[in-house]
Parts: sequence; structure tokens; C-alpha cells
Amino acid sequence: MAEIPSPEAAANDFVGYEVLIDFMEERALHELEGDIIEIGAFLGGGTAKLARFAQNYGKKVFAIDIFDPGCDSTRDLGGTRMCDIYEAFLQGRSQLEVYRETTRGFDNIITLDKDSKEVEFPREQSFIFGFIDGNHQPEYVRNDFHLVWRNLVPGGSVGFHDYGFDLPEVTEAVDGLIGEHRDEISEVHEIKDKHILLLIKKTLMGGCPPTNHGN
Ligand SMILES: C[S@@+](CC[C@H](N)C(=O)[O-])C[C@H]1O[C@@H](n2cnc3c(N)ncnc32)[C@H](O)[C@@H]1O
Repeated sequence: MAEIPSPEAAANDFVGYEVLIDFMEERALHELEGDIIEIGAFLGGGTAKLARFAQNYGKKVFAIDIFDPGCDSTRDLGGTRMCDIYEAFLQGRSQLEVYRETTRGFDNIITLDKDSKEVEFPREQSFIFGFIDGNHQPEYVRNDFHLVWRNLVPGGSVGFHDYGFDLPEVTEAVDGLIGEHRDEISEVHEIKDKHILLLIKKTLMGGCPPTNHGN
């Protein structure tokens, strides 16, 4: 996370959501029934990419963000707080205003301007894919995982940013979740150069036990 993108790159998104879209396409996740959820949208560049993909299949994107750049004081290994990175990047601009401008024109984005701990979905809301990149405190990583996992369809996938990099508490929390949900996971896929880890939920037919993280 401490790799601050250039303004040009981050006008789009921090993570590079193209890899997530490639993953969904490779795994034909769009053929499943349900929508996409993103926790941690920041300026909305990734949200817009997800929405463009989702539009092709008549799907929605639920984007959750607290839109308060000061609220995550998790420190990376270098001691830098996440909130300082966000505020430096914003240079006084309103996060929500930039997000609104970036995502303008999409009618399939549902923005939940909230703390992710306050979000609940009805049972009938299905997700095919979720991406977690919100607050980096372990209790939020766990909360955000459960928010997605409860409503994730069999064969669907949830991804975490900042795995195996400079936020060891995130990595540790994700490893704990994998251990606790081992029986429900068919595959663990790592995109190492992007610090992303993706879990696939077992289908009702069963599936293989989690494999080693492959790139
Ligand atoms: C690393 S940024 C997301 C970057 C985005 N995924 C991208 O690649 O462009 C983390 C985001 O999480 C949001 N956030 C922090 N705490 C949150 C919370 N408790 N609930 C919801 N969003 C939160 C921040 O406002 C920030 O926009």
C-alpha cells in the first residue's frame, strides 16, 4: 500500500483492477448469478472499471467506502499511516467529490457511503465476486470478509489487497480466515506482484482442498 501511484495512475485506481477483471473473465464468474461488491473504493477508478465489466452482464456493483480519508491509522512496515497516504494523495480535495465525478454516468453502481461494519445485506443478495481493500485493521479485514462471504455464491470469489506485502496484520488476518474457512474454500490464488490473494468458494459439488498459492 505504501507504493503511492503517480497521479496519472491513481486517477484510475491504486490496485490496477484489470487483473481482477481478467480473473473474473478467466473463471467465467460472470456466468454465475449475482452482483459484485467492492469494499474500499477510494477515488472510484476501480469502481468504474468493475461497473463497466458488470454492465455487460446486467450486474450491479455495490461500492462501500466511509469516504473519510483520515479514518485508517494502520501503519505499514515503514511506519507510514494509511490515512497519511490518502490525505497526501488527495491534496485537500474531497474524496467523495472525486469519487462521484469518476463514477458519474454509471447506473449500475450502488454506493454505500458508510463504515463497512454498519453494512448488512439481505439473504437474497448474491455476490459473484468481492474485493476487499478498506480499513486495514484486522477486525475490519475479518468483518469485510464475512460481509462478502455470507452472500457469495458457490464458485464465486473474494479477493484481498495488501496480502503478503507491507501490512503484516492484513496477511495474518487473511491467513486466519483461510484456516477457519478451509472446508468452504476450493482454491487459493495469489497474484504476487499486485499483493492480491483470491479465494474461491467451493461449489455444492464439493471441490479440491485449498491448493498452494499459485501465481
Ligand atoms: C486503499 S484505499 C482503496 C483503494 C482502491 N481499492 C483502489 O485501488 O483505488 C482504502 C479505502 O478504504 C476506505 N475505508 C477505510 N476505512 C473504512 C471503513 N471502516 N469502511 C469503509 N471504507 C473504509 C478509505 O476511505 C479508502 O478509500
